[in-house]
Amino acid sequence: MSLVRPRALVPLTASLFAAAFFCAHLIAHARSSSDSSATSSSSETNVSLATEDHIESPGWWPTKSAASLDKFVGTAECAKCHSQIAASQAATPMAQAATPAANSEILQSHADLTEQRAAYHYELSTSRNAVNFSVSDGAQSLSANIAWAFGLGHKGQTYIYERDGGFYESHLSFYKSLQSLDLTTGHDAGNPDDLKSAMGRWLDAGEARRCFGCHTTASSIAGRFDTSHLTPGVQCESCHGPGATHVSAMKLGKIEQGRAAIFNPRRLNPTASVDFCGACHRTWADVILADQKLRSVMNVRFQPYRLEDSKCWRNSAGDPRLACVACHNPHEQLNQTASSYDAKCLTCHSSASTAQNSAEKSAPKLCPQSKSNCITCHMPQVEVPTIHATFFDHRIRIPRPNSAYPL
Ligand code: HEC
Ligand code: HEC
Ligand code: HEC
Ligand code: HEC
Ligand code: HEC
Ligand code: HEC
Ligand code: HEC
Repeated sequence: MSLVRPRALVPLTASLFAAAFFCAHLIAHARSSSDSSATSSSSETNVSLATEDHIESPGWWPTKSAASLDKFVGTAECAKCHSQIAASQAATPMAQAATPAANSEILQSHADLTEQRAAYHYELSTSRNAVNFSVSDGAQSLSANIAWAFGLGHKGQTYIYERDGGFYESHLSFYKSLQSLDLTTGHDAGNPDDLKSAMGRWLDAGEARRCFGCHTTASSIAGRFDTSHLTPGVQCESCHGPGATHVSAMKLGKIEQGRAAIFNPRRLNPTASVDFCGACHRTWADVILADQKLRSVMNVRFQPYRLEDSKCWRNSAGDPRLACVACHNPHEQLNQTASSYDAKCLTCHSSASTAQNSAEKSAPKLCPQSKSNCITCHMPQVEVPTIHATFFDHRIRIPRPNSAYPL
């Protein structure tokens, strides 16, 4: 389930393009955040930037290559002082976004998966400490040991194997709704030319690095990608940056020094905060810069893009009440009770807040239809056929009967 994102434009053009789009909203809320040396300077603008631009700026940013491995202390160390956060974060799908294949619960509970696609027969078999993936066309066969399972499998799980010194993405993935294998999202549905391409897709060095950059921690150090020193999953230091300096200062009781030595996304302005999650969920600018492939229902996966194209966001100039962290605590499981989000909507869409609303914004309106379960109508679930699953559309809107999905 990969995303091709060639950089079609140079950074400056990118920012200008984004700036033009958002020009009406640049006035308010440009709350900049320069009080911490650990805060990236690219986060001071109120315009969505490409992730690459954030990474090139000084300071920490998720998916950035860290200077040295010995600056990482690991989640177990953070847990010594932040035990509650560590306990709840460990249970999230993000913390488990990748695992060594032999540890995959899906594979352990589906020890023998088979599938026939056109002329090819597939087998994914899991024993106690190895996962073997093989494909046969009746005459010949190929097989490989699966090294990594990507995705917790809330929606799906894709497998990575190594061959001739390179990484490959399995041609088939496990889908939760099917409880079986089907074509990996993004792969060509046509009949593969040969066994090698029937088995999987080669990931060039940049793609493999990005793939591990979003699903694991500390996979790239000093610009070099190497899986031997990564920690699977999105761990504390994937979001907050390497913690050694923070920990040693805190152990000495140097609180202010310690606070300055760790990246705290709470200090970001709302647009940069959304870009922060977008380092992996893709920023609005990332999606705009990507190729035409994303002009499809597939882009419902990219919540920052969807959200920032909604009227709520556009007409409220990047209000903190609409940042990702206003609705989601990244240290906790996704809340799946629809009514629990009502209060988030009503902070703007109620008569009290409408009256309070400042003059330069268009006042949020009230719903003529209902007073509860707002998301069930206004964040419709959209099916992505190749993932065999639905996503909640973060482009908050009024879906009219028979109206097309707004791209
Ligand atoms: C020795 C104890 C200790 C360890 C270990 C530790 N922290 Fe902290 N951390 C603290 C203290 C104390 C604070 C300040 C709390 C406060 O301001 O209320 C803090 C604050 C923070 C903050 C907020 C900083 C701010 O801007 O106020 C973040 C983020 C953070 N820690 C992340 C981490 C991460 C990630 C790890 C592991 C890499 C970690 N901590 C390990 C003690 C620790
Ligand atoms: C370092 C990369 C990274 C960053 C940064 C990141 N995410 Fe994620 N997130 C992921 C990956 C990978 C998954 C898919 C996990 C899986 O199911 O395997 C995910 C999944 C999620 C989910 C779905 C959980 C579920 O129950 O299915 C939510 C919600 C989420 N992220 C919210 C956030 C928010 C909010 C932020 C910003 C504060 C954020 N993420 C930042 C990588 C990241
Ligand atoms: C730019 C960051 C990024 C890159 C690169 C990336 N992913 Fe992801 N991946 C995510 C995020 C965020 C999610 C959760 C949202 C979603 O499902 O789209 C996710 C979801 C997934 C899922 C579904 C998990 C589930 O059950 O919900 C799989 C499987 C997956 N990725 C595999 C891969 C593989 C394999 C690669 C590399 C070939 C890759 N990803 C590259 C960020 C990334
Ligand atoms: C997916 C990204 C992500 C991961 C992983 C993550 N955090 Fe955070 N963390 C955040 C964000 C975003 C905030 C700011 C939340 C806000 O603005 O409300 C935050 C805030 C914090 C704070 C400061 C809270 C405050 O009141 O300012 C601490 C402490 C912290 N995280 C510790 C941890 C520890 C320990 C781990 C690992 C167990 C961890 N985080 C994993 C994104 C993450
Ligand atoms: C930060 C304030 C804010 C929050 C939070 C917010 N909205 Fe909005 N919303 C607005 C503004 C401003 C508009 C534009 C008013 C207008 O239509 O002129 C708007 C417009 C809308 C519209 C009309 C869209 C259209 O296409 O005409 C709907 C429906 C809506 N919001 C629903 C929601 C729901 C549901 C939530 C919670 C999931 C929510 N909003 C959260 C500020 C907000
Ligand atoms: C106004 C509230 C709101 C905001 C803001 C918001 N989300 Fe969500 N998000 C939701 C709701 C509601 C769900 C669906 C929960 C459920 O499963 O019932 C959801 C689900 C998700 C999922 C799971 C995928 C899916 O659709 O099933 C991911 C990932 C996610 N959000 C990421 C983000 C990111 C990243 C941002 C910032 C761009 C963000 N969200 C902002 C309300 C919000
Ligand atoms: C049962 C589905 C449903 C639920 C639940 C629902 N709405 Fe609506 N909402 C609609 C429909 C349909 C419209 C369009 C009405 C029209 O144009 O006549 C609408 C319109 C709106 C508008 C635009 C009003 C305008 O004057 O343009 C806003 C804002 C809104 N809803 C917010 C909310 C909020 C906030 C909640 C939760 C408190 C909510 N809605 C719950 C169906 C729903």
